[in-house]
Amino acid sequence: MEEALDEPLLEERRRSGSASTQASREDDGAGVKRWTIRRVVLQESAWLALGCVVLLIRMPFSIAMPYFQALVLAKLAGHERHEVWSTIKFMAGAGCIDAVLDFWCVYLFSYTKSRLIKSLRLKLFEKVLAQEIGYFDVTPSGELSSRLTTDIATLANDMTWVFRFSIEAVARILGVSLTLFHTDWRLALVTCTAVPLLAGANRLYSKFLRENAIRVQDSLAKANSVAQEVLSCFRVVYSFANEKYEYQRYQKEVSKNFHLNVKQAIIDGFYYMFVSTFLMNTAVRVLIIGYGAHLFFAGEIDFEKLSRFVFFLDMLQNWCNMLFDSFSNLIKSGGASAKVFEILNRTGAAGRGKGGAGDDRRGDDEGEPLDQRNDAAGSGQGHVAFENVHFSYPARPGDIVLKGITFEAEAGKTLAIIGRSGSGKSTLIHLIENFYQPSAGRVLLDGRDVHSFEHTRLHSIVSIVNQDTVLFGGTIYDNITYSVHNSGEPLLARELMPRVVEAAKVANIHDFISSLPEGYDTEVGERGVQLSGGQRQRIAIARAVLMNPRVLLLDEATSSLDNESEKAVKDALDRVMENKTVIVVAHRLSTIMNAHSILVMEDGAIVDCGPPSGMQDRLRSGAADMEILE
Ligand SMILES: Nc1ncnc2c1ncn2[C@@H]1O[C@H](COP(=O)(O)OP(=O)(O)O)[C@@H](O)[C@H]1O
Ligand SMILES: [Mg+2]
Repeated sequence: MEEALDEPLLEERRRSGSASTQASREDDGAGVKRWTIRRVVLQESAWLALGCVVLLIRMPFSIAMPYFQALVLAKLAGHERHEVWSTIKFMAGAGCIDAVLDFWCVYLFSYTKSRLIKSLRLKLFEKVLAQEIGYFDVTPSGELSSRLTTDIATLANDMTWVFRFSIEAVARILGVSLTLFHTDWRLALVTCTAVPLLAGANRLYSKFLRENAIRVQDSLAKANSVAQEVLSCFRVVYSFANEKYEYQRYQKEVSKNFHLNVKQAIIDGFYYMFVSTFLMNTAVRVLIIGYGAHLFFAGEIDFEKLSRFVFFLDMLQNWCNMLFDSFSNLIKSGGASAKVFEILNRTGAAGRGKGGAGDDRRGDDEGEPLDQRNDAAGSGQGHVAFENVHFSYPARPGDIVLKGITFEAEAGKTLAIIGRSGSGKSTLIHLIENFYQPSAGRVLLDGRDVHSFEHTRLHSIVSIVNQDTVLFGGTIYDNITYSVHNSGEPLLARELMPRVVEAAKVANIHDFISSLPEGYDTEVGERGVQLSGGQRQRIAIARAVLMNPRVLLLDEATSSLDNESEKAVKDALDRVMENKTVIVVAHRLSTIMNAHSILVMEDGAIVDCGPPSGMQDRLRSGAADMEILE
């Protein structure tokens, strides 16, 4: 048995685990282009180019400043009053033009940055939505929100400013260097002695930065996911009085981030001490002024040239610093961008049918008009079948959860699944929803593999009500209509209201909603915390009813409720279940006995099945074992 399962398991591992890592290394064979910094920059190339053009027009005006300054000083020394004033006028004119152009530089690059942030964020969110369920089993949501917020902003910020400053700095450094050589080649050569030292220091520094940046970004994301988890489950934290424990957990992650930042600060300090202050500001300057003075006394250079050289040297230093800064920022943001691109290049849709968010592939029926597609969806009866299905969760590939499941759920009938906790009942339900793909075997809906359905179509046929329902923050109306977003219904129009009320009546929740001062416009709070479990559950049922699914999956939909709510929910369900294929995971004998047939699961396999009449005795004898309640 074990050996027979090796192949499907390997296949599953190939499909789920390695697909993503491979995809991040290779080019997608299907011709889907990978996301890289270059591709992102190219996307905004028009705006960036415009910014650069303004930058280049601006350049002569700002480079002219030291030239004018030296000239004024020289004319002053020569008491050439008229020349002094006319040079100052030129200087002021050039400065004003420079200032106006500066506005456009800042505006254009900031605008490009905002465009980049917006498009990267949307792209990333779309990509996250396109991931398979297994991805969310192993990826904390806090980490993803960290990618969406800080990482994207860092990435876009650095990319645009680096781009701007690098281009500006390189152009200016070239221009100034040429001017320096033109002014005095001997002094310029002395300046160049710093270059190999600079290159060496930069190499060391960038190596450290690159490694540290990824650690910094990771530690931030971890801290973020702790915070997010605590905030979203605060009631649990409170009920165990674990605020201190959670604080310490967060503190641990924040401290890790702090230590990495301190390490960064020490290295930064050394780097700036050596490169900026010692090498550029002190050593080069002392050398130049010393050697310049020597040349001046030897009569080989005049006062104007020497002061012009020193002014330009200042400018050169500023721009070199600017270049180093943007260069180190780019490396620092490398940690953020690596993570963002890792997600952007993930081939997530592996686990879902066509037509999901971010799915670049065309569905096989995408060309059809919507009504025809719905017609096609309407042609089946809601017959569900499992054919020798094996399954293990991607997060735990070694643990085989379903071991050769074969059964049929007849259209329009109710099938009850019973079995001990952990026997694989919910897993089976999840496979019908195509949350995961079987390692081997097929799950069929009306004779067709659920995985081959268009994503939105499958989920307009099949609906699920779980044990613990999560609602969305928003009104009751929003929550009930959540199930019809994909159907092209006019959601905001009040035309939908009669149907919403109808669904709420079927779900036994209309009276309660009407008793609220704001009725259907009542806010339910984040995840529906302002409602009781039974009310949430009935709203979830109304949501399913409104959608009118052909196959209804009920996974212990009533088991977390008290007796009174259970009765209300059960009555609601009995009405909903009419004329539908219903697969119900249940513990109550009455529910089980009302089903057309029963499956008994044990340890991932079906150990008994048949109509309730034939199984009565067996059920009663095994009731305690299977946690069946009277
Ligand atoms: N997302 C998951 N990742 C890994 N293992 C899971 C996941 N969900 C459930 N399991 C495991 O699968 C087995 C079957 O779980 P489940 O189908 O939920 O049982 P139940 O019959 O109680 O509904 C259990 O051993 C459980 O630990
Ligand atoms: Mg379960």
